[in-house]
Amino acid sequence: MEGGTLLQVQDLVLGCRGRSYPLVGTVSFGLRAGEIFGLVGESGCGKSLTGLACLALFPSGVKPLSGRVIFRDTDLLSLPEEKRRKFRGRHIGLIFQEPLNALNPVFTVGHQVEEVLELHRGLSGEKARRETVRLFSEVGLPDPELRLRNYPHELSGGMRQRVMIAMALAGDPDLLVADEPTTALDVTVQAQILELFLELRARRGLSILFISHDLAVIREVADRVAVMYAGEIVEEAPREELFSSPLHPYTRALLAAFPRLGTRKLEVLPGQVPPPGTWPRGCRFAPRCPEKIPLCAEKHPELKEIRPHHRVRCLRV
Ligand SMILES: Nc1ncnc2c1ncn2[C@@H]1O[C@H](COP(=O)(O)OP(=O)(O)OP(=O)(O)O)[C@@H](O)[C@H]1O
Ligand SMILES: [Mg+2]
Repeated sequence: MEGGTLLQVQDLVLGCRGRSYPLVGTVSFGLRAGEIFGLVGESGCGKSLTGLACLALFPSGVKPLSGRVIFRDTDLLSLPEEKRRKFRGRHIGLIFQEPLNALNPVFTVGHQVEEVLELHRGLSGEKARRETVRLFSEVGLPDPELRLRNYPHELSGGMRQRVMIAMALAGDPDLLVADEPTTALDVTVQAQILELFLELRARRGLSILFISHDLAVIREVADRVAVMYAGEIVEEAPREELFSSPLHPYTRALLAAFPRLGTRKLEVLPGQVPPPGTWPRGCRFAPRCPEKIPLCAEKHPELKEIRPHHRVRCLRV
């Protein structure tokens, strides 16, 4: 494993019970310690399933068909479920788009964070309460002591997202997987939460897998960016390079629509991402590609490093 690599996803393919075709794959990327890695692409291209797989977490019916997810020296996919559960939360925290779905409506937010502290760090009683107040203050919740007794519905969307982040941090993880963590928020709150992620990375040296369909958001936070299309990565580069010299026609199309972003939906190219099971034999993007040549319909391109740290999956590059 490359020096400083925290998480390595190798040749991952995800399938679904009862179906002969993959939902995601083949996906490979590495996350270094202390970096924010952005995963971007249109709806349905496999960002969330890839993010969940980094915690060896699979929605019902979904299963890994091949590949490995290695965190430090541990192959998460080969661990039994009980060990995976201990790993999650303690080493890798998860943050969703809509915290209302992840928070339990019948318990106070203080109680919910204290439960995580007890589970992963053995803190209880007054110690857990004090640590919760400290975490609430770290994530910028106003009047952290008073927040302990709030129920999720009593908080604004931005405050709930801060509680979710506090909960994800409670196990003191090294990696956060944040799946569209600001998509449900209005623009001002979104900017504050992005700022918080940057602060947490600087203060704690956290690594973050940051998933978004929104290039404007990715540009704010990510050090490196991978663009996904139809279950695979089509381009990966350091942020500056990706935004200044995108090489894949799909990335270029996304960027061409960039000034119009903020409408929350990419309406870039005619057509849609082909759903799993209907991926073309050659390049999966070929049917929508303005630059395709006849070979693109025949040959599936590999993800090739064409400049240092810049990988592209296109026959023409
Ligand atoms: N539990 C499941 N069973 C079967 N198919 C699924 C399941 N979950 C996701 N899929 C399919 O897998 C593909 C990838 O889904 P995924 O949720 O990872 O996409 P995404 O890039 O996160 O999209 P979005 O931007 O809409 O969140 C989609 O075609 C989706 O319909
Ligand atoms: Mg998703």
